[in-house]
Amino acid sequence: MFVIAHLSDPHIDGSEEARSRLRRITSYLRAFRQPVDVVLVTGDLADHALESEYAELAAELKLDVPVLVLPGNHDVSAPLRAGLGDYIDSPGEGHPVHQVRDVGGARFVLVDTSVPGEDHGLLSPESLAWLDAVLREPVDGPLFVAFHHPPFELHHPVLDQWLLRSGDELEAVLRGKPLTAVLAGHVHNGLATTFAGLPFLVAPGIRSTPPLPFEPPAPGGGLVDNTTAHPGFALHIHEPGKPLQTLYRFPA
Ligand SMILES: [Fe+2]
Ligand SMILES: [Fe+2]
Repeated sequence: MFVIAHLSDPHIDGSEEARSRLRRITSYLRAFRQPVDVVLVTGDLADHALESEYAELAAELKLDVPVLVLPGNHDVSAPLRAGLGDYIDSPGEGHPVHQVRDVGGARFVLVDTSVPGEDHGLLSPESLAWLDAVLREPVDGPLFVAFHHPPFELHHPVLDQWLLRSGDELEAVLRGKPLTAVLAGHVHNGLATTFAGLPFLVAPGIRSTPPLPFEPPAPGGGLVDNTTAHPGFALHIHEPGKPLQTLYRFPA
């Protein structure tokens, strides 16, 4: 059994609120009787991309298990590489921060879908070609692709402006590849669907949750609920030869 704790969107900003919402997750993970095999955080790590925010996150993610991180639209490559250097293994400097990470027999291809200065996501032809080449390499164990921006609409008038705009190109690269699942964040909602014929699993937003238009509005009427919506994460459980199972957890 191989267990992934999939976190997303802590938006660390120096505030006690952000810190305590992430800590509800990390405290829960530290109390596991058998530690997870890997922790993955799919972007929007820091809210303002300050080195001090990344340093705070780096300290909070010391969990005695492998930790993987990738950037979201709130992150900036240089301070991210500087502040979270212990958790990143990406060639080159600056943008993009692509990674191929092997953990316990599983391979994680971590794709940087961010566009400097923008909230939507995009993959350049070079990034798509890199991803295609990596996914053609032979692998024995489970294979995951992870990135920040989902490529499909969520039926939300604001979030749907900030999606990955390279969906067709990405689908062409992913379709037919021997992937176990695709993992993402950004929309601050736990979500399970399919994309390119593959399981596509989104972790809840740790920092907040935007209710969909047909749901009860957020307290105060704003975009997001950061009071009644609990911080959450996904547990992906892989066993060879069996479908991936995902549980969503919202620690009190
Ligand atoms: Fe976010
Ligand atoms: Fe985001």
